[in-house]
Amino acid sequence: MEHYKNLLVKAKEAMAYAYTPYSHFNVGAAVLTKSGKIYTGCNIENAAYGATNCAERTAIFKAVSEGENEITDIAVVCSSGDYCYPCGICRQVISEFMKEGNLIFENNTGEIKIIKLSEMYPYSFTKDNLI
Ligand code: THU
Repeated sequence: MEHYKNLLVKAKEAMAYAYTPYSHFNVGAAVLTKSGKIYTGCNIENAAYGATNCAERTAIFKAVSEGENEITDIAVVCSSGDYCYPCGICRQVISEFMKEGNLIFENNTGEIKIIKLSEMYPYSFTKDNLI
């Protein structure tokens, strides 16, 4: 539980950097890699709305671009105060790099929710489907 709390702290720190002049909805994410490193990310919006990158993908792409392809857990927080569950695109990206891991969420009353990836995103499209 302590390492989940640490991951949530890192996600909250990253949320401070959210670039959200359009939605004003700030999201922060932190991923723990198999080697024990933590990478963080925030959402980054764009005047061309479709170019926006979610916090989860920012964190994952930072990890992968530094050679860390295996993620064990991801924590996500947002400014609305409620739990912030990943969008469909992020669930797909998470499933590419995280096997059997947990997603950790915290709301503004400090309650923590832990959800297994298999529960959050069952029947994902995987590289096995490409054969
Ligand atoms: N957003 C995330 O960063 N992660 C999610 O899982 C859902 C949505 C961002 C995208 C956009 O900047 C803002 O939240 C509103 O959709």
